[in-house]
Amino acid sequence: MHNIRKITEDIFYIGCSDRRLSLFESAYPVKDGMSYNSYVLIDEKTVLFDTVDKVCAEQFYENLDASLNGRELDYVVVQHMEPDHCALLAEVIEMHPNVQVVCTQKTVAMIKQFFTFDIDSRVTIVKEGDTLKTGKHEFQFIMAPMVHWPEVMVTYDKTDKILFSADAFGSFGAINGNLFDNEVNWEKDYLDEARRYYTNIVGKYGLQVQMLLKKASGLDIKMLCPLHGLMIRENINLFIEKYDKWSSYTPEENSVLIAYSSVYGGTESAVNLLASKLADKGIKGIKMYDVSMTHPSFVLSEAFRYSHIVIATTTYNAGIFESMETFLHILSSHSLQNRKYVIIQNGSWAPACGGQIKEILEKLKGTEILDDSICIKSTLKEEQIAELDNVVNTIAKSLNL
Ligand code: FEO
Repeated sequence: MHNIRKITEDIFYIGCSDRRLSLFESAYPVKDGMSYNSYVLIDEKTVLFDTVDKVCAEQFYENLDASLNGRELDYVVVQHMEPDHCALLAEVIEMHPNVQVVCTQKTVAMIKQFFTFDIDSRVTIVKEGDTLKTGKHEFQFIMAPMVHWPEVMVTYDKTDKILFSADAFGSFGAINGNLFDNEVNWEKDYLDEARRYYTNIVGKYGLQVQMLLKKASGLDIKMLCPLHGLMIRENINLFIEKYDKWSSYTPEENSVLIAYSSVYGGTESAVNLLASKLADKGIKGIKMYDVSMTHPSFVLSEAFRYSHIVIATTTYNAGIFESMETFLHILSSHSLQNRKYVIIQNGSWAPACGGQIKEILEKLKGTEILDDSICIKSTLKEEQIAELDNVVNTIAKSLNL
């Protein structure tokens, strides 16, 4: 059965949600599912904005047919050629052989990589600022390379003042009836997963996101329609502010994130004591994660939030304990910048991970290592309490407390 939703008088949501998915992109746990958004305009011309992941094919085709109500599809705008959005492009073209594909030059090359249908005879290639008039509506195309792939563009509807934003302003999480942010407690219930989505999927490309934000600042936007998650009409400014922070690697919280791993509890006991002392010093909002227990995508998202990060782990096979090494690799590959770190190393007979951690972190732009002097041998000793107190004072001073 079709399940189409009205966005405006003549724009319809025809996407769908997957709550059975374990790992989005085979990498990210999605405890609340995932939505794949697609939109149809019914104007003098009909336009489809992207398709969906193949898991939702049946629902999508029913929705597309119902929204077109017997009309032919005139245009399909391909904003992003990743298969979670364009898996069904070939079938759509088979169903509507006269459709024109509107996309960037780079998208054409990618279409040829993913599909074998003849794209050259039915493509309208657009570049920065090009427009498409469909009757009542006029759309402007805005290039958004690396948000999240190089071929990406976003589309501004000058008539309804909607920004179809591709992956930008997307989120993990299925759509549960309510389509719009003002129908839920968005900041309380949805912002964390929007942050986790941004930081993990697009986090590396802050500079390119900044460029897109600059272009968007010249537009009068009444609604954001991303390819994942809710449509945003109430929290537009707040979301843009968050994107500005995340993409400029500016912390949201002046507080401490403690990321640790512990084999027999010695390191954990030390960081628990550290956290208590930090709290006693007046630092609020401290967060602790055992990186062996919490998926790194969640800890990375928190690392984008916090100004100060404590890395505490043990030496393992003369290197960094594996779950921490994975987390540090993810931190590094997402190019997190401008953070202040404390490194605490453990090692029962040959502690060696501290220097290796420092080497990874120092390659990140704007890294400041506040302290890396604490070396635990199996368990923290009474005579090392003073070292811990020094670290607490250093962090507090750095937070202007
Ligand atoms: Fe949602 Fe980059 O694909």
